[in-house]
Amino acid sequence: MKRATAYANANIALIKYWGKNDSKLNTPAVSSLSMTLSDLGTLVTVSASGSCAHSSSIDGRPCTSDEMLRVVSYLEQVRQLFPYEGFLQILSKSSIPYAAGLASSASYFAALSVAINDYLDLRLDGRELSKIARIGSGSAARSVFGGLVGLYGGLSITHDESYAFPIVANDKLDLSMVLAIVSNGPKAISSRVAMNATKSTSPFFAAFVQAQERDFKEAIAVIREGSFERLGVLMEHSTLKMHATMWTARPAINYWLPTTLAVMDLVYEMRKAFGPVAYFTMDAGPNVKILCQSEHVGMVIDKLRESTLVSDIRSCPPGSGAQSLSGHLS
Ligand code: PMV
Repeated sequence: MKRATAYANANIALIKYWGKNDSKLNTPAVSSLSMTLSDLGTLVTVSASGSCAHSSSIDGRPCTSDEMLRVVSYLEQVRQLFPYEGFLQILSKSSIPYAAGLASSASYFAALSVAINDYLDLRLDGRELSKIARIGSGSAARSVFGGLVGLYGGLSITHDESYAFPIVANDKLDLSMVLAIVSNGPKAISSRVAMNATKSTSPFFAAFVQAQERDFKEAIAVIREGSFERLGVLMEHSTLKMHATMWTARPAINYWLPTTLAVMDLVYEMRKAFGPVAYFTMDAGPNVKILCQSEHVGMVIDKLRESTLVSDIRSCPPGSGAQSLSGHLS
């Protein structure tokens, strides 16, 4: 039986993407920048479905109807760009809690895109792969590459212009991300629905978009120069701007929990005690990701443990990009 399998790691945005342009091709309204994480990702196997519909399972369970809708709309969008016959079966296995704002969809669609590339023998390069991964999930485009990654977005950007690219970081940065898992539960509102609501109702959304290009370019320059403090400050600022746009949507959207704020406070305490050593970011969920340099990972984990705010703590150095594998899920 013909099969193709690929693995992709999750990524966490330092300069946040929030808001879409084109809902079918999923082009983002703003450029964004992320770090791909190591050892936290999704494995996807593609084969023929053997029936007259696509089929799909996640971690051994059948997809819900909403999940299926999302996968089918991705597969049909890919069919429009790269015509293929018949229907596909998609099996996946992830080391990330599903839909908890931990970039599970980013790693899923990046791995799926690489597996489809192999299965259909499309021979796409990283840039082209990132464009099809983006159709499944905006942030998935960035998981195609390892390390620090940029993704072009904009209010009038086209499918061809919206692709991801790797950024060569200054060695001085030596980054790591510590994840403080506040809750593993799935989010109450999908990022897709939340983005659309924010874009159409928040008076702050236009200001967020307007400031983004400056933040994006500055972050790239800072990554090349190797200033950890400037990168951390920019990341927190981008995070808070993104959440401010959601809180000011009508009705308001809030992903944080009281523990989220308590962990943010702990990060401020770390900086008071040790200087510019740790910065927070949150996505469409209550979990806090703490950016630090390798030398401070131990201290950040110790402080989180001492605080007893979270029991699930993971540390991830930068990880590699999506890759094809020879073993398959069954
Ligand atoms: O890729 P999506 O549609 O799951 O959106 C992800 C959006 C954030 O994680 C909140 C920010 C980002 O840039 O990853």
